[in-house]
Amino acid sequence: MKYLIKTYGCQFNYSDSERIAAVLEGIGFAPAKGDEDANLVVFNTCSIKQKAEDKVFGRLVKFEQMKRKKKNLIVALTGCMVRKTSTKKSPALEQDKLVKNLVPVDFVFRIEDCANLPELIKEIAPQFKLRGALDEIDSGSLKNYFKIIPKYNSRFQAFVPIASGCDKFCAYCIVPYTRGRERSRPMKEILTECKKLVEDGCKEITLLGQNVDSYGLSFLDRKEKRFKALKPGGKIYFTKLLEAVDKLKTRGLCRVRWTSPHPRDMTDDLISAVKTLKTQMPYIHLPVQAGSDNTLRRMNRPYTVEHYVGLIKKIRKVMPDCSISTDIIVGFCGETKKDFNKSCALYKKIKWDMAYMSKYSMRKYTAAHKIMKDDVPEKEKERRWRALNEIIKACSLGRNRFFLGKTVNVLVERCKNGICEGMSEHSKRTQFAGSPKLIGEIVPVKVKKALEWNLVGKITK
Ligand code: 5AD
Ligand code: SF4
Repeated sequence: MKYLIKTYGCQFNYSDSERIAAVLEGIGFAPAKGDEDANLVVFNTCSIKQKAEDKVFGRLVKFEQMKRKKKNLIVALTGCMVRKTSTKKSPALEQDKLVKNLVPVDFVFRIEDCANLPELIKEIAPQFKLRGALDEIDSGSLKNYFKIIPKYNSRFQAFVPIASGCDKFCAYCIVPYTRGRERSRPMKEILTECKKLVEDGCKEITLLGQNVDSYGLSFLDRKEKRFKALKPGGKIYFTKLLEAVDKLKTRGLCRVRWTSPHPRDMTDDLISAVKTLKTQMPYIHLPVQAGSDNTLRRMNRPYTVEHYVGLIKKIRKVMPDCSISTDIIVGFCGETKKDFNKSCALYKKIKWDMAYMSKYSMRKYTAAHKIMKDDVPEKEKERRWRALNEIIKACSLGRNRFFLGKTVNVLVERCKNGICEGMSEHSKRTQFAGSPKLIGEIVPVKVKKALEWNLVGKITK
């Protein structure tokens, strides 16, 4: 029995896929080499933009054809596109519309129901002889899938989720509807996972949450009383978590990254922790989304451009060469040319290291879908995307040139045809000539060339 997981979207989904893999291997599945050789294919989907959903629909066409030839091939869907865990055998009223409408899909499951996979497979594919099934899975993981110990994809880098869901309800975003209310994992549980990873040789941990800086502070966190109220003027829970994880440096942990914070919740103590803690890297990803207060207000992003600029100033005052990247949406409902020009002007002012830019894509269920008009024509969204992309490229190149002649430390992720590649402390993708023996090592590289999206250098060890 062979399985294949196709992951789309953000790091959260990649992390979730590691837990799905652990459950499947626990019941006797082995990884497939490719599409042809798989008996069970799981699509871990993303629905942040229509394009992300279309990708999955496109891939499913191929599997519909494959299923005609390979009768016992099972196809499952999970991730943000799924609303209701159900199978082709569930009563019609209980079926998710994906399982009802998509011919090749045998079952779908919400990621929180990941520990129920053995039951779902048994129902839909009794031909599979499952080993161990539910007895091998910690019963706690039936209620809390974070308790499943993942099958990590790398021995030296790992994603560790610290919270699930989102309570921010940005007007354009589907995440609060797909991932539900924000709930933080207990600190002890996160630290146990990190400790085990480090004992097994992990050098870099990326802590994941939709809003890492509201860790321990969500409505449910307070209601369920798993976190005490913060002392006025005290450090936020996320800073405390970073301090606790930092203690693992004596056991071999080198780097701790995190994504994403929300500008409203970013605090001075978090900024100073990035500077002082040894495992913290000089890099912060801080989504701005728009450069005009009018657009931010309509987006339900509760801060002003001035507040955001203030945060950047604070970060740069404490860490002048810290890398800062952002997320920006162009063409949101009601965004005028003037509003868009403000995003461009802000970009030129802040000169972020990098930006993940998207054209606004209307998502069902969101406030924008309910009460706003997707009134920027596609052609104009495209024009804005291209115009801002030119600015992003110029700023990235300018910033990358700062590293020319300097030595950066690269955690080597891969090596192909004699070219090694990995991230520097400042999250700059860096390439240099080297051998696969270096994979998993942190090596000094002298930067010889600065390109728009990466650095090229020579190892100096
Ligand atoms: N359309 C375009 N971009 C979006 N994002 C989230 N929702 C949408 C949408 N409906 C972007 C935001 C967010 C990133 C993960 O995806 O910039 O920060
Ligand atoms: Fe979406 Fe906003 Fe939550 Fe980020 S903070 S996941 S953009 S709703």
